[in-house]
Amino acid sequence: MPGKIIVAIDGPSGAGKSTVSKRLADELGYVYIDTGAMYRAIGWKAVKLGVLPKEGPELAALCANTEVRLGLVDGEPKVYVDGEDVTGLIRTPEMSMTASAVSAQPSVRARLLELQRDMGRGGGVVLEGRDIGTVVFPDAGIKFFLVADVAERARRRYEELKAKGVDVDLAKTLEEVEKRDYDDSSRGIAPLVKADDALVVDTTKMTIDEVVAFMKERVEEAAKP
Ligand code: DC
Repeated sequence: MPGKIIVAIDGPSGAGKSTVSKRLADELGYVYIDTGAMYRAIGWKAVKLGVLPKEGPELAALCANTEVRLGLVDGEPKVYVDGEDVTGLIRTPEMSMTASAVSAQPSVRARLLELQRDMGRGGGVVLEGRDIGTVVFPDAGIKFFLVADVAERARRRYEELKAKGVDVDLAKTLEEVEKRDYDDSSRGIAPLVKADDALVVDTTKMTIDEVVAFMKERVEEAAKP
């Protein structure tokens, strides 16, 4: 009987992390933890309270006084801020940029790091984000780094937003994806970078089924006693 390990999935936006991580967790009977949603949740509250997404006593106080919780309802991941369901509100292009801005601030990272470690410590979890394999769980049982061509990642993000009824423009989406890549990779703390021991999966030309099947096999191998 294989043990339940920690699966770390990192990579830039649009590489397929969310779709693949959710499916992988389902198939393995693991808990899915979307750490990006946690940064979005803090960003959402900052906007609501008019707190700038820049370091300072206000942002630090907000982090200390905010309850961010991830849940699952009928198989669908939910995000709660102080008990309020914000799942549908945190996926806009504006919230992506705000999440990226708050995620560069030390007080936000420190608070969410603590929460993420508490949530994942026992194993049997799939965590997706930017710094899971490098900072949150450097000793994870297996690490993946998902990548895809930037044009393909922008196209996916565009289709995803369009399907949700958001008014989007492909050129602008590409610009935003490129800016977020740059900001997330160049920040001072916990930047987006591949862990030395992460397995790179280029999803540009792969179907979701192919990516999930490949990763599941690797996890099952890694979980063997
Ligand atoms: O995965 P996402 O697009 O929902 O993430 C939103 C932002 O949060 C992303 O631009 C960078 C930040 N983030 C992070 O800094 N560290 C993580 N582990 C996850 C997300």
